[in-house]
Amino acid sequence: MAQSMAALDLIPSWSRVPRVDVAPARDPEAVRDPEAVGLPVVQGAVAVPAWIGLGPGAVEAAGMTGAAGRVLLVPREDGPDVVLYGTGPEGAAGPDVLRDAGAAVALAVPGRSRLAVVVPSGAGAKPAEAAQALVEGVLLARYGFDPLKREPSGTALEAVTVVAGSDSDSDSREAVERGVERGVWLARATMLARDLASAPPSLLTAPDLAEVAVRLGAQCGLKVEVFGQRELEELGCGGLLGVNRGGVDEARMVKLTYLPSGAGDGTPRLALVGKGITYDSGGISLKPADAVHATMKNDMSGAGAILAALCVLAGLGCRTAVTGYLMCTDNMPSGSALKLGDVLWMRGGTSVEVVNADAEGRLVMADALVLAGEEPGDAIVDIATLTGACLRALGAETAGVFGNAQPLVDQVLDAAARTGEPAWQLPLSRRYRPELDSEVADLKNMGGPNGGAIHAALFLEEFVAGRPWAHIDIAGPAQNDKPSGWRTKGCTGFGARLLAELALAFTPPSTAARTDSTRSISEEAGR
Ligand code: BES
Ligand code: ZN
Ligand code: MN
Repeated sequence: MAQSMAALDLIPSWSRVPRVDVAPARDPEAVRDPEAVGLPVVQGAVAVPAWIGLGPGAVEAAGMTGAAGRVLLVPREDGPDVVLYGTGPEGAAGPDVLRDAGAAVALAVPGRSRLAVVVPSGAGAKPAEAAQALVEGVLLARYGFDPLKREPSGTALEAVTVVAGSDSDSDSREAVERGVERGVWLARATMLARDLASAPPSLLTAPDLAEVAVRLGAQCGLKVEVFGQRELEELGCGGLLGVNRGGVDEARMVKLTYLPSGAGDGTPRLALVGKGITYDSGGISLKPADAVHATMKNDMSGAGAILAALCVLAGLGCRTAVTGYLMCTDNMPSGSALKLGDVLWMRGGTSVEVVNADAEGRLVMADALVLAGEEPGDAIVDIATLTGACLRALGAETAGVFGNAQPLVDQVLDAAARTGEPAWQLPLSRRYRPELDSEVADLKNMGGPNGGAIHAALFLEEFVAGRPWAHIDIAGPAQNDKPSGWRTKGCTGFGARLLAELALAFTPPSTAARTDSTRSISEEAGR
């Protein structure tokens, strides 16, 4: 039965989003029979409405001080349960605090399916940002991957009402509506990315993933082109085809194109390249049968994040033209698999000696980086579960970011900060580049024992032809083994919202660089 599941059945979250609507403050209809209501409490000015049946003194005595991160569940007999959530001091609650608060509210009442949550007035975030963050937190916290279970693992959310803050005028109500819409699209992207990465590797092979992309693309206004074995041979994609040799399922490269309405010469253009290894056994360099190996169905999380981000760009009204390349195959050991010492020719003719079959990600990415660089565009950003070394360096929650153009790296870091998906820049230390020299080919696919995340980045840089480029290594944050708020256990969908935010705010980095130098020159002249 499971074997006959259609690929789309594996990604139910995309089409099963709870209803989310907005109610104005103090409207009697405001809270449409919710089963639970989240109410903000400000630290240092604890106040609660009389109808909850507890006064401020009792609330404080129960430990609800209003500190950020605190929640207090007030179960009620004749009306919705109340979940008080702390915002921190007046004006302090930014998007991170409110995303966490939305999650804490939703998790305080796990058996409730119809929730309302009141946006704090006078938060640190503007009403739109505050509403967006609350919605993201609520929806993402109650995510679960259920399509392979007989019974769903928890109570699904059906409806969420976001109630505008009590000082809200009609302007801020509109802002709340905008924020809610944004929050729903972005949460939906993350949930789609989680579903894709959670799907078992034999049910979501490269051809399956391509099929999902075709179907989703049709719903989301994307152009989708799928390249199979023959097309990849014609393109000379020796990296992707080489890695694919050990498996029985064919490789696929999926090219997704999002064009904003009215796109023209002045439209900023961003290319995204994603690692889509549907399962990484290590190939002939077989991974040990340990806990990390057991997560390797998620080795397509980069590709999944790109697909998910592209699927929401039209809904979000993105003004950047975005092209996505998903490089999809499994990495399997077999009689036909890559051997150590084999040499592959990447798109564009660079030869690479394979000295470790487990350093497969960079091989499949190389072909796409070359293809992306062949098309007109302002920047390339790639995303990949690329190195255990990055996980070692930054821990499991933070992505590593590398790049050859600081203004672009800064845009990636800014997008990461806005989404609560932490990222930290690591150095593209060219002094280590000689470690990738091969005795028989132009490059080899692995350097020495130390600095592995840097070696991988330096390898990728060889293929970007000088185009402004940034690389996001998500080997750590793609997986979460202890749930915390909206960061649920398992595959995290990390990067989907980051990339969507990046595309929404994207400025061609060459222009940005010029602006910067102009400013510093004129500032010096003024001094
Ligand atoms: N997919 C792995 C990277 C990875 C490791 C992701 C651990 C998440 C957790 C990648 O293909 C890989 O195997 N990288 C090797 C590279 C090495 C052989 C140069 C690694 O990091 O060990
Ligand atoms: Zn891998
Ligand atoms: Mn590997």
